[in-house]
Parts: sequence; C-alpha cells; structure tokens
Amino acid sequence: MTTLTSRSNLGGASAPRSKSSGKLKTLDRVISRLGIGSRTEARSWIGAGRVRVNGRVIQTPDHWLDPERDSVSLDGRPLRAARKVYLLLYKPKGYITTYRDPEGRPTVYDLLAGVEQWVFPAGRLDQDTSGLLILTNDTEFADRITSPDFKVPKTYLVKTASIVDDAAVERLRAGVELEDGPTRPAVVRRVRDSESKSFLEMIITEGRNRQVRRMIEAVGSRVLKLVRTSIGPLEIGDLPIGHFRELTAAEIVALWPGRSRGKSSGKRKHLSCV
Ligand code: URA
Repeated sequence: MTTLTSRSNLGGASAPRSKSSGKLKTLDRVISRLGIGSRTEARSWIGAGRVRVNGRVIQTPDHWLDPERDSVSLDGRPLRAARKVYLLLYKPKGYITTYRDPEGRPTVYDLLAGVEQWVFPAGRLDQDTSGLLILTNDTEFADRITSPDFKVPKTYLVKTASIVDDAAVERLRAGVELEDGPTRPAVVRRVRDSESKSFLEMIITEGRNRQVRRMIEAVGSRVLKLVRTSIGPLEIGDLPIGHFRELTAAEIVALWPGRSRGKSSGKRKHLSCV
C-alpha cells in the first residue's frame, strides 16, 4: 500500500509529512524527473530491485519520498540529475517521434547520433509533418513548451488540397469546432494561392493531436504538406533537414523567461551507467 509519508515509510524518525505539502513525490517520478530515463524505464528498474532509497531496496514505483532529503541509488550508484540537454531537430517527413516503433519505421532517435542523454520530444509532430522539434530531458521545460496554459506559439506552413477561401480563413482565425472541443483562435495568413491549392501560415498555441490537419478538414479541405517553421522565437534558420543542434542559453531563456541559469546550465555530470 502506498505510504503518504517519507521518512516514516523508510523507518526514519522525522514527523510524517503529507503529500499535500508538495515535497513528496513518487519514486518513479523522482527518477524520471532526473532526466536519465522515461517513467516506464524507471518503473522497470524499480520493479527489478535495482533501486534503493536511503539504502533500502524499494520495488514499489508509487513509494513516496522527499527528493530533497532522501537519497536514491540505481545499481548501487547514487543518482544525480543528468546534464540538461535541449536539442532542436529539423525533423524530416517520414520519421515518427516515438522511441520504439513495432512496425520498424524510422524514428527521430535515428537522427540523434552521439546524444548520450535520454531525451524526449517536447510536443509531437506527425509522421508526415516536417519541421522544428525540441527534444530535451528537462520535463519542466517540456511542460512549459507544450502546456496550452503558457500559449507558446507554434507556426506552421500549410499546403492544402484545395483553395481555402476567405470565409474559411476567417473561421480558422475564430477557432473551429473539433471533436475534442473548439480550438483557440489562430493567426492565419494567406501566403499565396496556386490554381487549385492554398499556402497558409498558421500560428496556434495549443498542441492537440493532428490539430492543424483537423482544423483544415473542419473547413472542408485537406493538408497536403505541413511544416513547423517556428516554436516561440525559435526558427529553422539554416539548420539542414535531418540535423539537430543544441539550443543556446539565450534561446532557452527566450522560451522560458523565468528559467534560472543555474537550473539550465547543467554543470552536473550525467549518469553514465544507464
Ligand atoms: N498539427 C498537425 O496536424 N500535425 C502536426 O504534426 C502538428 C500540428
């Protein structure tokens, strides 16, 4: 059974603290927040008896602890936060953003040669969509980019299968009704029309599944090509397709103005045993 105290469930002497104090976190969450592996991986390490809390093997992923006071080790080595990495990848069409694909399709991880840390995408792109993708092991930073609450604008260039007329553009601007609810208003600019297709620039601040494609379908057309050209102030620039680079400190701060330098500079060595 899950215990809601930290030292108390470790046999310590301090007074029980409730999880509502905000300090206590579950063991799997503490490990994944260190940026050394996913929550699923953390749960498997815990289940396999490889994790100790204050010297004692804990096999319950939901074990509560205080990450500021309790010490956690994996295979006998104390866990420290991995160096925080922030990557900007120009994802080509045809790559999926999940880690492993049972169908054997190429994944963005195939493009990350030399990256030792475990990173995950801060917001997905469909297999058929190309463009900017941020990958990081900083879960708070990723939340900041993806949470609709922070309204980080994502800009897309869209080629549609038919002309999207002015009335349809107005509907997109106002927000359209999708099966999972109305979208927020979008910034929509007509770049140009060809004889039978429209080229639009759309800026949205949510990141719902296939949102741009579904918005275009909601106004009676279909997406033929979709490229994400910017995330907040970040642009593709001259990054070649299929390549990645690290974000600069200035870019990290621009995406998250409240981020302290100490937190993002990641001076600590990453844990090489995992
Ligand atoms: N909207 C989509 O439809 N697909 C993406 O990959 C991103 C936004």
